[in-house]
Amino acid sequence: MIPEKPNCFPKNHALVFILYQIAVAAAAIAAFSLTNETDYQALLAFKGQITSDPSDALSSWNVSIHFCSWTGVTCGKKHQRVTQLRLPSLRLVGPLSPHIWNLTFLRVLNLQANHLHGLLPQEIGQLSRLRGLSLINNSFEGELPINLTNCADLRGLYLYGNNFSGQIPVELGSLMKLKVLVLSSNSLSGEITSVLGNLSALTHLSLGDNHIQGSIPPQLGHLSNLEKLFLYGNNISGRIPTSLYNISSILEFSLASNNLSGSLPSDLFLAFPKLIGLYLGGNKFSGMLPSTIANASQAIEIDFSQNALVGLIPVGLGGLKNVQLLNFEKNNLGSEEGDDLSFLTSLINCTKLQRLSIGENRLKGILPNSIANFSSTLMAFVLRQNFISGTIPSGIGNLVNLQLLSLIENMLTGGIPSSIVKLSNMQGLYLYENNLTGVIPSSLGNMTLLSGLELDNNVLEGTIPASLGNCTHLDELYLDRNLLVGAVPQEVFGLSSLTALSLPGNYLSGPIPSQVIVKCWNTSIWELTNSMEPFHLLLQTYEV
Ligand SMILES: *[C@@H]1O[C@H](CO)[C@@H](O)[C@H](O)[C@H]1NC(C)=O
Ligand SMILES: *[C@@H]1O[C@H](CO)[C@@H](O)[C@H](O)[C@H]1NC(C)=O
Ligand SMILES: *[C@@H]1O[C@H](CO)[C@@H](O)[C@H](O)[C@H]1NC(C)=O
Ligand SMILES: *[C@@H]1O[C@H](CO)[C@@H](O)[C@H](O)[C@H]1NC(C)=O
Ligand SMILES: *[C@@H]1O[C@H](CO)[C@@H](O)[C@H](O)[C@H]1NC(C)=O
Ligand SMILES: *[C@@H]1O[C@H](CO)[C@@H](O)[C@H](O)[C@H]1NC(C)=O
Ligand SMILES: *[C@@H]1O[C@H](CO)[C@@H](O)[C@H](O)[C@H]1NC(C)=O
Ligand SMILES: *[C@@H]1O[C@H](CO)[C@@H](O)[C@H](O)[C@H]1NC(C)=O
Ligand SMILES: *[C@@H]1O[C@H](CO)[C@@H](O)[C@H](O)[C@H]1NC(C)=O
Ligand SMILES: *[C@@H]1O[C@H](CO)[C@@H](O)[C@H](O)[C@H]1NC(C)=O
Ligand SMILES: *[C@@H]1O[C@H](CO)[C@@H](O)[C@H](O)[C@H]1NC(C)=O
Ligand SMILES: *[C@@H]1O[C@H](CO)[C@@H](O)[C@H](O)[C@H]1NC(C)=O
Repeated sequence: MIPEKPNCFPKNHALVFILYQIAVAAAAIAAFSLTNETDYQALLAFKGQITSDPSDALSSWNVSIHFCSWTGVTCGKKHQRVTQLRLPSLRLVGPLSPHIWNLTFLRVLNLQANHLHGLLPQEIGQLSRLRGLSLINNSFEGELPINLTNCADLRGLYLYGNNFSGQIPVELGSLMKLKVLVLSSNSLSGEITSVLGNLSALTHLSLGDNHIQGSIPPQLGHLSNLEKLFLYGNNISGRIPTSLYNISSILEFSLASNNLSGSLPSDLFLAFPKLIGLYLGGNKFSGMLPSTIANASQAIEIDFSQNALVGLIPVGLGGLKNVQLLNFEKNNLGSEEGDDLSFLTSLINCTKLQRLSIGENRLKGILPNSIANFSSTLMAFVLRQNFISGTIPSGIGNLVNLQLLSLIENMLTGGIPSSIVKLSNMQGLYLYENNLTGVIPSSLGNMTLLSGLELDNNVLEGTIPASLGNCTHLDELYLDRNLLVGAVPQEVFGLSSLTALSLPGNYLSGPIPSQVIVKCWNTSIWELTNSMEPFHLLLQTYEV
């Protein structure tokens, strides 16, 4: 309130006059600055723009309740100014009112997982006290405002899953308190600005799934507190700067699905002693696998798939005590020696292994019986398209959690072991293009979850077991080019789940019901189920 003008001044009492002048001046400033009335108006304006609030989250935002008690609103005790606005995952729809940038006492603005849209205007710089901003999974677009640089207290900026475009502004390089910068899953382009290397507090830098090009600036190696570096899903080229191997704090390192090349240092796994996830799949890396891989004792996921790596897979992988995923698929791994699979035996000690792929390499050798001693946690075992010989060990029946087994396009001989019936979780059994002999075990009918069974291009004989009629999820059945005889059981034709059945090139007889579709094999179908895409990250949890 502006103090009332006193009727008279005490004679010669200059101090009182000065105090009065100060009071008037202060009141004048207050009248033009943002107050808790502004905050109230800003919140009302925010609500006014919301066109859909399916969970009625903003119903408490009404006159009968002070705005500091509205859902999602937190005020400072002293000034009754809004310090936090948290409205995550409410499916709120609408544009974001520009009045929101008048909430100048805001420290946390969390609007993640709604359907809000619009631009992020330069006015965001008015929120100079902001520490955490999350707009994850909304529909914001346009360029990132350079006035973010005025939010000098910002610790976490989470913009994942919008459609921000343009370049990463160099102004972000001045946010020295920034610990988490998550810009992934947007449409950002240009190169990674080297000024990000100045953000020495950064623990998490995520730029994945954008349209970023150019090389990785060596300055990122200065981020000595960095734990998560996610650059996956861009068009980043060049080599990994050696400076990055200086960041010993790294936990998760994902450069998957880019255009990176060069060889990987043999001591990579010593450089990152705390590593839990390494994702380098879908690049053009060449040279050998880092020989120190067995040192990754904390690692949970390791993916080198879809590169041009050569040489052997190191033995002694038993040191990977925590590993759940090992993916070496689609490289040129292997030797001419024919003893390329001995590393498999060392995996016995990886008691948490769930998914293993060495598919589409040049690995030569006999499938060792030791796979019978693999951890029963194994769910996917992919050896496809190598030069693997020998028989399928009957001990494979120990891997009772196996859902996917792909041995296709190898040189395996002998029969399909009857122990395979123990694999009651099996969904995809792919054995085609080997030299497997003997009969199709009728016990396959016990794999009631089976959806893909592909035994074509072998030398299997006998009849098609009627028990397959019990595989009521069977979607694709490929038995072509074997030595099968007899009639196709009605139980098989009766499977309503079948979308592909391929029988040519056998000695089958009897009628084929006209409603049966006989499709030839289709690469695009099995590609989906029969290989693993490059993985790019393990977990994404955000605390705003
Ligand atoms: C205001 O919100 C409170 C809490 O949701 C509710 O109990 C009350 O009925 C509302 N008042 C009006 C006038 O809508
Ligand atoms: C708050 O923001 C709006 C929109 O940006 C603006 O028109 C208004 O003047 C601002 N100030 C106050 C005190 O509401
Ligand atoms: C954002 O969306 C992605 C993809 O739909 C989802 O995986 C993630 O959990 C979501 N994150 C949040 C915080 O809503
Ligand atoms: C952006 O920041 C500059 C420099 O601090 C300031 O002069 C300008 O008013 C800000 N723009 C807006 C729209 O807030
Ligand atoms: C995202 O933004 C880009 C560039 O501004 C635009 O071309 C594209 O259509 C937008 N995508 C979506 C899904 O809005
Ligand atoms: C920030 O980084 C740039 C480029 O890496 C560098 O030239 C500049 O000196 C750095 N600024 C500060 C304040 O450290
Ligand atoms: C990726 O970048 C290269 C240049 O490094 C360019 O030739 C290519 O067209 C880009 N690819 C995409 C999909 O943008
Ligand atoms: C790694 O760090 C050491 C010590 O801080 C430094 O001497 C060296 O130059 C750094 N290497 C790279 C490639 O940045
Ligand atoms: C597995 O671990 C045990 C005990 O640590 C060790 O004795 C054995 O040699 C290891 N086996 C393999 C195949 O690495
Ligand atoms: C199967 O065996 C025959 C005869 O030994 C051989 O010619 C052929 O290459 C083998 N096929 C495969 C896929 O190993
Ligand atoms: C197949 O399942 C049936 C019934 O669940 C069971 O009786 C039979 O022993 C199983 N067959 C084999 C070979 O395990
Ligand atoms: C299918 O399963 C049922 C019940 O488990 C069993 O009685 C029947 O013999 C099986 N059919 C064939 C053809 O194996």
